[in-house]
Amino acid sequence: METLDTQRFELYLPARTVGDGLDQDEEWCELKIEGERQRIRLHDYAAIYNVPGLYEQLFSELLDCNSPEVVCDLLGAELEDAAVDPGTMRALDFGSGNGMVGELLDELGFDSLVGLDLLPEARNAASRDRPGLYDDYHVLDLSEMDRHERAELNGHDFDAMVCVAALGFGDIPPIAFAEAFNLVDSPGWIAFNIRERFVEDTDPGGFGAFIKRMFDEGILEERARVSYTHRVSVAGEPLEYVALVATKRRDVPLEWTGR
Ligand SMILES: C[S@@+](CC[C@H](N)C(=O)[O-])C[C@H]1O[C@@H](n2cnc3c(N)ncnc32)[C@H](O)[C@@H]1O
Repeated sequence: METLDTQRFELYLPARTVGDGLDQDEEWCELKIEGERQRIRLHDYAAIYNVPGLYEQLFSELLDCNSPEVVCDLLGAELEDAAVDPGTMRALDFGSGNGMVGELLDELGFDSLVGLDLLPEARNAASRDRPGLYDDYHVLDLSEMDRHERAELNGHDFDAMVCVAALGFGDIPPIAFAEAFNLVDSPGWIAFNIRERFVEDTDPGGFGAFIKRMFDEGILEERARVSYTHRVSVAGEPLEYVALVATKRRDVPLEWTGR
């Protein structure tokens, strides 16, 4: 894979006030383009992907995000421990963005990689910045998938699904996570991360309760879990996450999701 060749940007974060009340999906920064400062919300991924290298500089460098490495390293260690060769496996990178996770999965040696994201800007950025990385890249809302799209995705015969930095905060809802999960054969490999406070949340409609039920009912079997700092907030506070690698034992019944 060629190194991404990008320009450097002048980025400004708001005055760092710890506890200023901005939640993760409300944070913003300013980017200087042609002498003018433009405000961009950190969760406006479409706008960020449209600027080559901005996602990497903002999240990995300025805000110390290391989730792609943490989740992919954990998955790689578990595959090695189980003596499973990724070179025989087909992986779905769910919420794949511009391909930062895909690049690490490629280094682990997966036989085939498929990206899936809600945003056409994500697919455009992946093919612009990491051409040839994905064997296929779908732009799709899995909660509204029609039967042709389902058949096409099932045709990939996934044995692994990886989902990094894309659960909660109005990103991937439980129903779409369940649909992606059900595209993976059983037994299969699932690796994802999620904010620690969502795992602890017992709200019946939330991710915490959903994942707990998957574990309680034996649909998911935990293999490895680490707590770590996903990144710092714009105010410099650590955002605590959990990375998980688990074995999929069977499909999630779709009636759980109201279908
Ligand atoms: C923070 S980015 C993470 C990208 C990549 N996984 C990484 O770690 O660099 C979150 C991604 O999830 C995608 N996303 C949000 N909701 C989604 C949904 N319902 N279905 C698929 N992708 C979604 C966003 O478009 C965005 O590209």
